[in-house]
Amino acid sequence: MSGFAPEWLAVREPVDARSRAAALVDSLRERLAVHETLEVVDLGSGTGANLRYLAPRLGGRQDWQLVDDDPRVLAAAESVTREWAHSHGARFIATADGFSVAGKSFQCRAHLAALNLASELDELQLPVSGLVTASALLDLVSEPWLRRVAAHCRDIGATVLFALTYDGRMRFEPAHAGDENIRTLVNRHQRTDKGFGPALGPAATATAQTIFTEFGYRVGRERSDWRLGRDDRQLCAALLDGWLEAAVAMDAGARSELSQWHGRRSAMLDTSGSQVLVGHEDLLAWRPDSRHPIPPRPAPSTDSREDLP
Ligand SMILES: C[S@@+](CC[C@H](N)C(=O)[O-])C[C@H]1O[C@@H](n2cnc3c(N)ncnc32)[C@H](O)[C@@H]1O
Repeated sequence: MSGFAPEWLAVREPVDARSRAAALVDSLRERLAVHETLEVVDLGSGTGANLRYLAPRLGGRQDWQLVDDDPRVLAAAESVTREWAHSHGARFIATADGFSVAGKSFQCRAHLAALNLASELDELQLPVSGLVTASALLDLVSEPWLRRVAAHCRDIGATVLFALTYDGRMRFEPAHAGDENIRTLVNRHQRTDKGFGPALGPAATATAQTIFTEFGYRVGRERSDWRLGRDDRQLCAALLDGWLEAAVAMDAGARSELSQWHGRRSAMLDTSGSQVLVGHEDLLAWRPDSRHPIPPRPAPSTDSREDLP
């Protein structure tokens, strides 16, 4: 499994879902402005796991933009969500630019948008008084990028939910020599550029709290740790491979020692009682006045518009 391949996203989705901070979603529901249709933008949506988690929990009418720059994951969003809808008793319809899905308590349209959020951020249309969200993205981005997004969110009165941001904690049970070295190297790799400038890595949620607070938001944070055991073997094996690769990229001279650590840890995956904790956090940021929608901006003057019928 490489990068953010749909196969990797599929392996992590059930673990993400059971790890997320449900209390923050309850809180989010209370804080969202009252709309006939809630508009949502999902940054770095992958195949749409965030929609599949949030849509039934938020309920009502929703209109989502799933934004990602990887055509593989956007192409998989429809089939993965179709299967999910069928297994959850929801109705699924493919549309020209995405799909719509309706369950007992929610109806939601999703538009797939291929956009590079690092280089084409200005082209992103964010919803006035809507929800801006991302899952498993924030540790990849840089502080200046996050500031730009936060300023934009403030200007349009958006509520913000960033879920499943890695926070630098990694604990193994039973502990083993070499664990701490791997954690240090992986966390160093986390700070390298992932396309947005130097990545925030484990500092991402704390930095987001500082920025959104500066911009007048209230902020809530909850842990959403992965707690992995024998039943999560496939995810653990993929993690060990990824951590080895990241650690070697930071210290190529230690390749042999790091590979030995990887071999020992892989052998332990089937041992009963062997556990791995990967620290994550969810963050909710809301405007104190968020339940009162900002009225839409007036349309620009029509004088220079040539595309009107
Ligand atoms: C860890 S995955 C999370 C995907 C999804 N949110 C989930 O929870 O399953 C990060 C996602 O961010 C996307 N991504 C990374 N850099 C991006 C960029 N510059 N522009 C748009 N999407 C990007 C990747 O393609 C990937 O789908």
